[in-house]
Amino acid sequence: MERTVRVLFPECRQETLEDLYADLQFPEPSARPFLYLNMVATADGAAHLEGRTRGMGGVADRVAFRRLREHCDVVLVGAGTVRAEGYGPPRLDPEAQERRLRRGLAPVPRLAVVSARIHLDPSLKLFADPHNRPLLVTTEDAAPLRRRTLEAVAEVVAFGRGSVDLPGALGWLYETGVRRVLCEGGPSLNAHLMAAGVVDELFLTVAPLVAGGAAGRIVAGPVGGPVRLALRELREYGGELLARYQVVR
Ligand SMILES: NC(=O)c1ccc[n+]([C@@H]2O[C@H](COP(=O)([O-])OP(=O)(O)OC[C@H]3O[C@@H](n4cnc5c(N)ncnc54)[C@H](OP(=O)(O)O)[C@@H]3O)[C@@H](O)[C@H]2O)c1
Repeated sequence: MERTVRVLFPECRQETLEDLYADLQFPEPSARPFLYLNMVATADGAAHLEGRTRGMGGVADRVAFRRLREHCDVVLVGAGTVRAEGYGPPRLDPEAQERRLRRGLAPVPRLAVVSARIHLDPSLKLFADPHNRPLLVTTEDAAPLRRRTLEAVAEVVAFGRGSVDLPGALGWLYETGVRRVLCEGGPSLNAHLMAAGVVDELFLTVAPLVAGGAAGRIVAGPVGGPVRLALRELREYGGELLARYQVVR
């Protein structure tokens, strides 16, 4: 059965689900990596259902999630998301790894976790792959003992005091050869990134659901006034809307 995605903008056409975000083009960055966010929200704007994203995204969102990982050097997440979603090392099927290799990327992206408190158990599955150790991005005043413990299972780097100097961390990543960073949230990290002016694009799935209640939104925290977006692409599959926005500077 052909799984047809309706492309609604910038022109109306159809594509198969297998083609979704298959040949994404991003501008060549300078000074810091190109940073794109991928998030899912319900129609009433909730970023989670009882503390997790499980049950929000449908087939198209899951394909988009995997596909967007095929284009980055690093997947960036906040510690809250690691804890809530039980993050492990990024995994991609052999075909996806092959496509990455053809683009000149490593077979799988590296995971980078942002945390000031570094309150992460070294036995978490996040740290389970010795061949793909995560990067832990913390602050210069992070607890020294916890830092030493985590240095056994991760590469730990520090930028700023109190909270991570995100532009500083991204500048360092660029110097190490990282050109594209995919941020998968969560809302607090998104706010810090938006406030720092280092987000280039937002991929947003609007799930055909109403969560109700008081669930937070996909950006939680001050961003220094509304951040203007330009719609670049819009697709529909199975009632899910997949929008691609560019941050307007
Ligand atoms: N809808 C979606 O697409 C989506 C995506 C991801 C997550 N979520 C949901 O979002 C919820 C979690 O939200 P959250 O806001 O707690 O997640 P988060 O942004 O992943 O994590 C927040 C934590 O990240 C660290 N952090 C963020 N920015 C930092 C900075 N500049 N400097 C230092 N540390 C920084 C801090 O960790 P420490 O406390 O360790 O210092 C902070 O407590 C969950 O319910 C999850 O399911 C939804």
